[in-house]
Amino acid sequence: MAYFQTKGVAFVTGSAGGIGQGAANALAAAGATAIAFADIDEARVKAAAEESKKHAIDSNYRVKAFRLDTSDRKAVEEVVQAVAEEFGRIDYLVHSAGVDQVEYAPVPDDDPDDFDRVQRINATGLLNVSRAVAKVMEAQEPRQFTTVSGTQRDLGRGVIVNVASAAAFVGIPAKVGYVASKWASLGITKTLAVDLAPKGIRVNCMCPTWVDTPMFKGEQEKIPPITDLIKKINPAGRPAEVDEVGNSIVYLCSPAASYVNGHALTLDAGMTAGPMIT
Ligand SMILES: NC(=O)c1ccc[n+]([C@@H]2O[C@H](COP(=O)([O-])OP(=O)(O)OC[C@H]3O[C@@H](n4cnc5c(N)ncnc54)[C@H](O)[C@@H]3O)[C@@H](O)[C@H]2O)c1
Repeated sequence: MAYFQTKGVAFVTGSAGGIGQGAANALAAAGATAIAFADIDEARVKAAAEESKKHAIDSNYRVKAFRLDTSDRKAVEEVVQAVAEEFGRIDYLVHSAGVDQVEYAPVPDDDPDDFDRVQRINATGLLNVSRAVAKVMEAQEPRQFTTVSGTQRDLGRGVIVNVASAAAFVGIPAKVGYVASKWASLGITKTLAVDLAPKGIRVNCMCPTWVDTPMFKGEQEKIPPITDLIKKINPAGRPAEVDEVGNSIVYLCSPAASYVNGHALTLDAGMTAGPMIT
């Protein structure tokens, strides 16, 4: 069941699995008419696009899957153009493609090459996608929405939600590359919000703590005590499920968030509100 509605065309990166797939399914369940799925993993992204049909409520719901490396600017421009040609417009961009560090190690023992790789995918890749999609959004007609009081509200030309992390607010031992990329993701998102507001494009950031995805499983392998730590320090005692992140992304995309711009939505069950001392 959808909490908010997201009629229109969505483009979701990193949608072969994890948060991106959860967001795409939530958008389909909230009324998206078409979703373009993009991921570096071609086989899984095709399967995810097909699987999303189970969740869609629009009877004419359509999907298209693209193999895309978001750190390749030219490829991003080509795929975004192909999406616009296929579906006519892009109302929502959810950018969830991202990677973790290969190894965790404190500076100065961290791997400088891996630092560069993580920035290229998580920070530059995010900007590549937003830039290309903003070009499509700024050229399309704004949409209208009828409020509960019956008045018409301008919804603007589009909405961008970038998935950063709660790591965008703190330092985390042994994770300098990942943390730097998430602070950059948040800074880019806030700058896009003010750059694109005059064009009627809202840009917000989703900042979860741990989410139960393949990336999190990789973290559990690198830090086995992480599951017990989450039980102790997170009020929910567990990582978020992908649909919990997906539904918060739906909210940011929906008309319910028409006045929300440049915001970082922390999704942490209250973990960063204060220490759990009982
Ligand atoms: N899982 C968590 O605990 C957590 C918490 C906070 C933030 N995040 C962030 O959420 C985003 C999604 O993470 P997730 O947990 O769903 O991870 P995931 O590994 O489950 O999914 C990420 C997807 O991105 C794709 N991808 C990786 N590099 C790509 C590239 N260059 N081009 C296109 N696609 C690429 C992968 O193939 C994968 O399908 C990431 O930015 C991650 O940093 C995750």
